[in-house]
Amino acid sequence: MINSLRGMNDILSEDYERFTYFINTATDIAQKYGFHFIETPLLEETALFKRSVGESSDIVGKEMYQFIDKGQNDVCLRPEGTAGVVRAFIQKKLDKAGGIQRYFYHGSMFRYERPQKGRLRQFHQFGVESFGVDSVYEDATMIMMVSDILKKLGIGYRLQLNSLGDNNCMPDYRNKLVEFVQERKDNICEDCVKRLETNPIRVLDCKNSKCQELYENAPKLLQNLCSACEDDFNTLKKILEDNGIKYEIDTNLVRGLDYYSKTAFEFVSDDIGSQSAIAGGGRYDRLVEFLDGRSTPAVGFAIGIERLMELIVMPEASRDGYYIGAMDEEAVNLVVKLAHKKRKSDKVNIDYKAKNLQKHLKAADKVNAKYCAVIGSNELKDATIWVKDLENKTEETISLEDF
Ligand code: HAM
Repeated sequence: MINSLRGMNDILSEDYERFTYFINTATDIAQKYGFHFIETPLLEETALFKRSVGESSDIVGKEMYQFIDKGQNDVCLRPEGTAGVVRAFIQKKLDKAGGIQRYFYHGSMFRYERPQKGRLRQFHQFGVESFGVDSVYEDATMIMMVSDILKKLGIGYRLQLNSLGDNNCMPDYRNKLVEFVQERKDNICEDCVKRLETNPIRVLDCKNSKCQELYENAPKLLQNLCSACEDDFNTLKKILEDNGIKYEIDTNLVRGLDYYSKTAFEFVSDDIGSQSAIAGGGRYDRLVEFLDGRSTPAVGFAIGIERLMELIVMPEASRDGYYIGAMDEEAVNLVVKLAHKKRKSDKVNIDYKAKNLQKHLKAADKVNAKYCAVIGSNELKDATIWVKDLENKTEETISLEDF
């Protein structure tokens, strides 16, 4: 027997209903915020992710589904959505067009991680990217959008907030941090030694508890912001407070992707185990220029759909459409014909086997049909059909024409 690959799941039946309910809800909200759909390829040049997500990140360094294709191109399955959207934005010359462009997307992402609950190798994100607004109001709007989506789905969350500074203040902070960590170099984990060389601020979210203890007194990002970044961060907090969105400050929240500056945020759930991040995002004002576009401020987020699945409170399923069946072998043909016609306006489930009424009623109930319509030899003779309204518990025999 051939099974799916580790960390790659099929989505069907009840899960599929939840999945589409999530996509429809999030799409509806993104459109209300003025965002437009964008679809980018699953496969991109590896260089795109190396330059954007960053070679020092775990995602690029360890987790890419990377290969050389038949044309000798170095390609990989996208590990995230932002880089592809930015590539498309530049390729379509939207950076030169100026103004504000807002996009949303959803689809599969691929990371060769160690699979566990809530951590897959193929997973799905719903994301949005906004280009051309440097105001921190847009950062707040992103957070409000995630909050609206989660609330609509009945999902509780905690919002963690940080600012990563900008070109003005980050280099000085980085130097201070490196100095602090260098002095403790003999006692930190191997990964942190590497991070010192490649991307020092990532030591701040090292999962090793010994490292965390050592960094407790490390210089704090939020105490080292320049006045412009500090003002923005204060404004962001004020907007969130004014709009009733609670947050926690986490000065060690640095995110696992290199392209962020200023606002960084994560939504976490306490109800899903260790992989608790359900959404993450932030501002990435330098990325468009870094990928050879015209300098454009940008901010966005992505929600991990699989991590939400079990938390989604589905609306009560109401009975819908018809179940049509035959009680007599001779009526099967007619039942198929009726179903074909009825599907022009309604959802129809059909059983091709002749069965007694009790069995049909049971089957209609199982598919949650509103009506169970059955034809036996009497109905066949009279050109009628017996219909039971399973919601109101009423029944009648009507002419096929009326049906
Ligand atoms: P990210 O934090 O890497 O950000 O991913 C966003 C969300 O995807 C996570 O919070 C998590 O819910 C989900 N996720 C990540 N990895 C896995 C996995 N292996 N299995 C299941 N779910 C996972 C980004 O990808 C950025 N592109 C977000 C962004 C958009 N920033 C700005 N714009």
